[in-house]
Amino acid sequence: MKDFLAISDYSSEEIQDVLDLAVTLKKEHFKKGNKKIFKGKVLGMIFQKPSLRTRVSFDMAMRHCGGDALYLSPNEIGLGKRESIADIARVMSGYVQALMARVFDHQHVVELAKWSEIPVINGLSDYNHPCQGMADALTIIEKFGAKAKGLNVSYVGDGNNVTTSLMHVSAQLGWNFNVATPEGYDTDPKAIEIAESIAKKTGSKLTFLRDPHAAVKGAHVIYTDTWTSMGQEEETAKRELVFPPYQVNAKLVGEADKDVIVMHCLPAHRNHELTDEVADGPHSVIFPQAHNRLHAQKAILARLFGVA
Ligand code: CP
Ligand code: NVA
Repeated sequence: MKDFLAISDYSSEEIQDVLDLAVTLKKEHFKKGNKKIFKGKVLGMIFQKPSLRTRVSFDMAMRHCGGDALYLSPNEIGLGKRESIADIARVMSGYVQALMARVFDHQHVVELAKWSEIPVINGLSDYNHPCQGMADALTIIEKFGAKAKGLNVSYVGDGNNVTTSLMHVSAQLGWNFNVATPEGYDTDPKAIEIAESIAKKTGSKLTFLRDPHAAVKGAHVIYTDTWTSMGQEEETAKRELVFPPYQVNAKLVGEADKDVIVMHCLPAHRNHELTDEVADGPHSVIFPQAHNRLHAQKAILARLFGVA
C-alpha cells in the first residue's frame, strides 16, 4: 500500500485487514493505551475545504501514537495555483513522512500521489471519501459482526462522494447496497462500474432506485448525507426543492428492519436530510461513527507506514 486514494484500489482481503487492525488499535486505545508506532513521523494535512472530523481525527491519530501532524489551510498552499501540485508533492516529500489532502478535484490528489515519494491519503475529493468509508464499515461491523455477509446497506439522498466510498466498501465486504437518488443526482457511473466489478467477486448485490421507501425495505443500515456538498453551495436553493422526499425521518426509518442503524458522515443539516428525532433517536449511531474516524485512520496510517 503506497497511497490511500480509493477503497476500490485494494483487494477485499486488504480492506478487511485494515478493518481488523482498526478493531485491534481501538481496543488498545481504550485498554492498554496506544503504542507509539508513529514516533518520529509527521503527517502533512493539506485542506482546500473546511473540516472538523477529518482534521481533528487525523491530528489526534498521529499524536496518540507518538507522531505529529501539520495543518495547512486553503490559503497557505494554493494547491495548483501558487505552485504546481507536482512541485508541492516533491517539496513536501522532504519535510514530512505522509500527506493527507482534502481537495475539490479528485485528479489533484491523484497528481499529489504520483509525484510524492511519501504516502498520500485522500481526505475527501469530489469523487469519493475513502477514510469515511472505512470508519463507516468499522461502525457497521461493530454493530452486526465481522462476518455480516448479506447485510442490506441503504443510502438515501444525493449520490455523492460519500455514496461512492460506502458503495465501494459495501461491495468489497459482500454487503448488499441499495441506493435511492433523485434523477439527475445519481452516483458517478464510473464508480458504479467499479463497484459492479468488485460485487461480482464478493457476491454483493447493488440496486439503484428512485424510491427511498423501496430502498430502505429490509435495510439494516440507512445512510444519508448533505444534499449540497462543499463546492456546490450555489445549487443549494435548487437542491432544497428536489430532495425533501429523500429526508431520513421517523416514518422512513420505521419502514426498515427493526434493528436498523442510521448513519450520517456529518456535518448534518438537521431537519433537512436528517430529522432531529432520528439523529438523536435510538437507531442513530452518528457520534460513534464520527469517533471511529480516529480508529480507522490509525489503521490506514499504520499500513501505509508499514509499522503494525
Ligand atoms: N465527515 C467528515 O469528513 O467531516 P469533516 O468535513 O468535518 O471532516
Ligand atoms: N458530501 C459532503 C461530505 C462532507 C464530509 C461534502 O463533500 O461536502
